[in-house]
Amino acid sequence: MSELVGRTIALELVRVTEAAALAASRWTGRGDKESVERVATSAMHTMLQRIAMKGTVVIGRGNKGEKIPWLYVGEQVGAAERPALDVAVEPVDGIRLTAEGWPGAVSLAAWAEQGTLFNPGPLRYMEKLAVGPEARDVVDLNAPVAENLSRIAQAKRCAVSDLTIMVLDRPRHIPLIAEARAAGARIRLIRDGDVAAALYTALPNSGIDVLMGIGGAREAVLSACALCCLGGEILCRPYVRDDVERQYLERIQVAEDQVLSSVDLARGEDIVFVATGVTDGEILKGVKYSSTCTQLHSVVACSATKTLRTIYTTIQAVG
Ligand code: FBP
Repeated sequence: MSELVGRTIALELVRVTEAAALAASRWTGRGDKESVERVATSAMHTMLQRIAMKGTVVIGRGNKGEKIPWLYVGEQVGAAERPALDVAVEPVDGIRLTAEGWPGAVSLAAWAEQGTLFNPGPLRYMEKLAVGPEARDVVDLNAPVAENLSRIAQAKRCAVSDLTIMVLDRPRHIPLIAEARAAGARIRLIRDGDVAAALYTALPNSGIDVLMGIGGAREAVLSACALCCLGGEILCRPYVRDDVERQYLERIQVAEDQVLSSVDLARGEDIVFVATGVTDGEILKGVKYSSTCTQLHSVVACSATKTLRTIYTTIQAVG
């Protein structure tokens, strides 16, 4: 993708996550996860088909023939023969949050030159450590939690007790949380949605300094796209659960204990990352309805230009 094409597409791409966020928000708090996923994926698919590109879904909603018929891995999307791009999508990161009416759900998509995004295949989880630009060069996934926190605090010219770490609220994170608290840092637990958490580590004034813990592998690639655009870093290690995952890693020549950085997950030089709020979050506001209009809040980040745009969209009610 040439920089010019990337820039032209970048603003068009926000419509993709806006469409998914709008569709999903109609199902907020209705307790129906399947409908949230189905309508958001369908709306995102429809929008992607209108974009002038030849896209290949690398991070999508499962495989061909599974329950959702759109945005499966390998699907070709777009309305033109060029540019040839890899596409990563998460129509809603926080399906459960949306269905249950909790904050923090976002719609996400990213684009990069063809063949540059990591395909996690059947690998479901990765261990993650994400930080913003100031601490990108000091973190080490092989170092103890306290050591990383001390290095991050030094890089950010603050005390460990000033750091806030976002962690998915899961029993598997009990030891990690204990270690971080013992080191003096604050923990901010989230129910779901660790891509937004990774994004927030690189946004000024978000109040979030670090993301730590085990989360989705597909989400790791989207987080890497965001952090490549914003100058942050995410370090990840495969969290292997069975032989299918083990054999896949062997096939793609990734060792089980290998630490992958953001550029291993998103190698492109021209990456575009887009996020739109579905329900209210730390920074991104959720979809708001009134009698006169609907409002959406998005961010668009481009790696080639190192820009971050905030977009507020108002759709006037007709009639
Ligand atoms: P949803 O499937 O409800 O959208 O949840 C997404 C998510 O919270 C990701 O943000 C995270 O990486 C992953 O699930 C964690 O997986 P698990 O819920 O199995 O711990």
